[in-house]
Amino acid sequence: MQEDDFSRLVALDHRYLWHPFTQMRAWMADNDPLLIERGEGNYLIDVRGRRYLDGVASLWCNVHGHRKAELDRALAAQATRIAHSTMLGLSHPGAAELARELIACAPPGLTRVFYSDSGAEAVEVALRIAAQYWQLAGQPRRTRFLTLTESYHGDTLGSVSLGFSDRFHRHLQPLLFPVLKADSPHVYRFYRGLEAQAAEEAALARANELLTQNTGEIAALIVEPLVQGAAGMWTHSAGYLRRLVELARAEGALVVFDEVATGFGRTGTMFACEQAGVSPDLMCLGKGITGGYMPLAATLATERVFEAFLGEPEEFRAFYYGHTYTGNPLATAVALANLEIFRRERVLDRIQPLIDHLREALAKRFAGHSRVADIRQAGLMAGVELMEDPERRRPWPVAAQVGSRICGAARKYEVFLRPLGDVLVFMPPLSITTQEIDLMLDAALYGVREIAGASQRSESR
Ligand SMILES: Cc1ncc(COP(=O)(O)O)c(C=O)c1O
Repeated sequence: MQEDDFSRLVALDHRYLWHPFTQMRAWMADNDPLLIERGEGNYLIDVRGRRYLDGVASLWCNVHGHRKAELDRALAAQATRIAHSTMLGLSHPGAAELARELIACAPPGLTRVFYSDSGAEAVEVALRIAAQYWQLAGQPRRTRFLTLTESYHGDTLGSVSLGFSDRFHRHLQPLLFPVLKADSPHVYRFYRGLEAQAAEEAALARANELLTQNTGEIAALIVEPLVQGAAGMWTHSAGYLRRLVELARAEGALVVFDEVATGFGRTGTMFACEQAGVSPDLMCLGKGITGGYMPLAATLATERVFEAFLGEPEEFRAFYYGHTYTGNPLATAVALANLEIFRRERVLDRIQPLIDHLREALAKRFAGHSRVADIRQAGLMAGVELMEDPERRRPWPVAAQVGSRICGAARKYEVFLRPLGDVLVFMPPLSITTQEIDLMLDAALYGVREIAGASQRSESR
């Protein structure tokens, strides 16, 4: 692209756009933003032809790489039939086929699929199904929800109430409903210096306290299984998850798993909760459901939950919820092709050595580094938490924007990363190779050296 054309596009962007989760003053001061024009496998290609490894899978949704032939074909074929028809009062083949396929690969007990368009909506749907379920089931006092500190469930108002974060949502506080918050094992271990086992016990004790203090009032526990992604890749063990679910069920609450980020192979199994051997009453899916191609989300429910909504028209038991593009046929066609790739290419088997490689490659570069406070990984989701003084748990001031400057520096090495504060996030497409994992981590390490001026405490490389 000619320099004039590039400048014109940047001017249009700066003049007319408002980007999500972005301080626009800083954005508009940057005259060299990345304008992505194409994708090829695990790479993004900008309008000037520069290639960048997609180290965060286009915000955690791309699964098999960009321009995957089977997904391109499924989308194009559906476009020759129909682009959209409504799910309100109509159905279509793709919606029905995909529902069957999702139930076939979902944890046991889930039998029904409710579509929406984004992860936040999938959670909003779960929240509203759970709330209505208890009204219909004759336990109207069950109106409270229990979630973990710093959980993130998306940006609609109900989802924000569940996943409140002071940093992002402080201005919305007056509009939010109160939610019970239990600290996760990560908080006890990382910030209060407990050993892993003691941290889990403390976290479970606190969750139990909240559950028993609110007997008969909890509608649902909502949790991101194994990894609290947006919190900064906070991980917990499968054993903790299992016991947390037992505590919630002992109090009669429904259990909702938000697998929007962890679903579709990210943690090494199709869904993270499989590793704990527990099934939820409601499960939220999004992001990778279409391989990262189209906006589609789904909330899966058990038959017990579904049946509570059945009745005569005059009883008004139906679930009155829906969006115009719910169950969009282009999206369901791609989602079906996505699941077919998982089967045909045995993706979950293929990624196991990649997960091991990522673990070793992270340790080799970041373990013992003087700026590294913690390395966390579940499957192909990983976070490296940096601090000015890790021993004293002292972060850099927010104004220093260290994480984002490190990711900016990594671009020189042709890798695109987006951090969460000063946590470097690595969440590549599942199609990444071992060489690309090395490239991604080398770029991050060079960025750390350049911006954080750090050195290895122990081994050097
Ligand atoms: C666990 C979890 N739930 C929900 C969401 C919201 O998804 P969306 O951005 O598609 O609304 C996200 C997004 O990162 C997420 O990580």
